[in-house]
Amino acid sequence: MNANTRELAESFDIEKLTSEFYADPYPTYRALREHEPVKRMANGSYFLTRYDDLLTAYKNTAAFSSDKKKEFAPKYGASLLYEHHTTSLVFNDPPAHTRVRRLIMGALSPRAIAGMEGDLIALVDRLLEAMAAKGNVDLIADFAAAIPIEVIGNLLDVPQHEREPLRGWSLAILGALEPVISADVFARGNTAVQEFLGYLEVLVARRRARPGNPERDVLTRLIQGEADGERLTEKELLHNCIFLLNAGHETTTNLIGNGLVTLSANPVEKMRLIENPQLIKSAVEEMLRYESSNQLGNRMTTERVELGGVALPAGTPVTLCIGAANRDERQFINAEAFDVSRNPNRHLAFGTGAHQCAGMALARLESVVATSRFLARFPRYALKGAPMRGGRARFRGFLSVPCTIN
Ligand code: HEM
Repeated sequence: MNANTRELAESFDIEKLTSEFYADPYPTYRALREHEPVKRMANGSYFLTRYDDLLTAYKNTAAFSSDKKKEFAPKYGASLLYEHHTTSLVFNDPPAHTRVRRLIMGALSPRAIAGMEGDLIALVDRLLEAMAAKGNVDLIADFAAAIPIEVIGNLLDVPQHEREPLRGWSLAILGALEPVISADVFARGNTAVQEFLGYLEVLVARRRARPGNPERDVLTRLIQGEADGERLTEKELLHNCIFLLNAGHETTTNLIGNGLVTLSANPVEKMRLIENPQLIKSAVEEMLRYESSNQLGNRMTTERVELGGVALPAGTPVTLCIGAANRDERQFINAEAFDVSRNPNRHLAFGTGAHQCAGMALARLESVVATSRFLARFPRYALKGAPMRGGRARFRGFLSVPCTIN
């Protein structure tokens, strides 16, 4: 066992992931936490798997930079993908990050989010109704993927009939963030940024001409900026709208999908939740921890740092493995078990520190509403055959989950 886990840790390479890893990365993560928690990759980057090491990196923004200009230059060249990712809030450091984050956090106010609950419940109930009529459904296409795209479409007030391409653009842009990408994935990502920008230019021009209610319409709020005159530039505005759509879309789809699949694989916990619906909030936190939909984060050291006895020189790319840290037995009792009432549960699914997810209240609301209403309506749902994995290391989830619901 020990020799095996040591070998698993030794042979791990983020650029050479196997199909076994995509299906179940957790044995590898456990082996890494145990034997090489600060592991050097063949490409010179380091891969972190222990909870405390991730905390250190998240909290020390001066030594662990989020700015990706240097790192993305060789990967994307002078492309629109490069412009997009390096203008996104998440891939910047202070002071640019602080300014843009303040504007975005102001727009995603608790009031704006609370105001969405009614529409969200109505949307989820419509989807449940449509599924009931079918009997055999796909939990992703018919449910999990249909929710966030509508929610974010509502957030930016994108007209209903113009929403169709959003999901495809978003998947193509995020796909290009995988550790290794083909020329084809690169080309699709670039085309998606180009088409998305073209669409948003029109949407923003329309909204400038006819502003919405800034209390509820995030796009109007982002266009208008703050009362003291702080504004996003046009480039910042367009790229951060794309980023918001992307950040809130696949991650939340996967959280809802992963949650329902995990419950199905853990029938005792599923029954416990159905019989005790008040556990829904802690159950969603456990889904976030146990099958984190965003598994990897990245930083670059700006100075020499020491982690777990390993010295990393300045300029070292570091991967923060959220999926591994969230199963660290040093932090979580019985970490490999799925427990819908786990408490405390200080998981890192939304990161922490200066870049902590700006949309976590919205993601939680979507998952709580979607999962609780689904379970109340279809308590006997059962997967039909093996679900199809997305095959990505960063964004963990399913492309398709065939299921019977009656
Ligand atoms: C289950 C769903 C979600 C997960 C797991 C998730 C995860 C994360 C993580 C891990 C980060 C930190 C990245 C880093 O530090 O490198 C982040 C940042 C961010 N997320 Fe989310 N997210 C989710 C949903 C959303 C939603 C619904 C929105 C918005 C509508 C959103 C908007 C953002 C933004 C704007 C940032 C950047 C914050 C910053 O850099 O200051 N996310 N998210």
